[in-house]
Amino acid sequence: NGVRVAIDGPSGSGKSSVSKKVAAHLGIGYLDTGAMYRALTWYCLDAGIDLDDTEAVADAVAAMPLEMGTDPKAPSVSMGGKPIDADIRTTRIAEVVSKVATNLAVRPKLQQRQRDLMREIAASSGGVVAEGRDVTTVVAPDADVRILMVASEEARLARRSKEVHGGVDETMLAATRAQIVDRDKADSTVSSFMTAADGVVTLDTSELTFQQSVEAVLTLVER
Ligand code: CDP
Repeated sequence: NGVRVAIDGPSGSGKSSVSKKVAAHLGIGYLDTGAMYRALTWYCLDAGIDLDDTEAVADAVAAMPLEMGTDPKAPSVSMGGKPIDADIRTTRIAEVVSKVATNLAVRPKLQQRQRDLMREIAASSGGVVAEGRDVTTVVAPDADVRILMVASEEARLARRSKEVHGGVDETMLAATRAQIVDRDKADSTVSSFMTAADGVVTLDTSELTFQQSVEAVLTLVER
């Protein structure tokens, strides 16, 4: 039925880029569970659903026409045929996604959808790498390989700052810190993605290059 690999970790740990590369190398599918929380947030804002209305937001999980493109070389997110990849990465979404992700009526619904998707992708693509905050613990605790990717706050900030602002001077670092450290703090109230659960291998990428991180994951998958 295909190998299932679960990778969790905080922002800037490298989990997204590494997960995509590993899936591409293995020729299997890729699922970005964080993109699904972002997409739900986008849908609610677009539909005029009040993010504080926890029931209405939870109902939106079944109502939204979300399509996840799971080719690791060109992953995509669309809503009713409209590509929303760029829109869900804006600060407008980043600033409020934690409100949706900490909604306890939302999580079981999205988690079930992610669990089903992982099985479908694994069956149709020979396997799947799924990444997020709670894939190793809640979505797929029975995955074949489970990894918690971590990195020092310094390393995470430097990577995100380069990605988002194109550099690492002090102003850029401060802007990045405000965004990701605060979001991780909000998120950690609902999933403990900073410490590994039983049976989950911790991979610290602080001192690793991108390529070394990819190789470390491949070693865990292939053993
Ligand atoms: O930008 P970053 O890689 O940190 O985030 P992401 O993976 O795109 O996830 C965006 C947001 O979705 C996170 O800040 C969490 O609030 C939420 N999330 C979650 O609650 N559970 C997951 N499995 C994945 C993401």
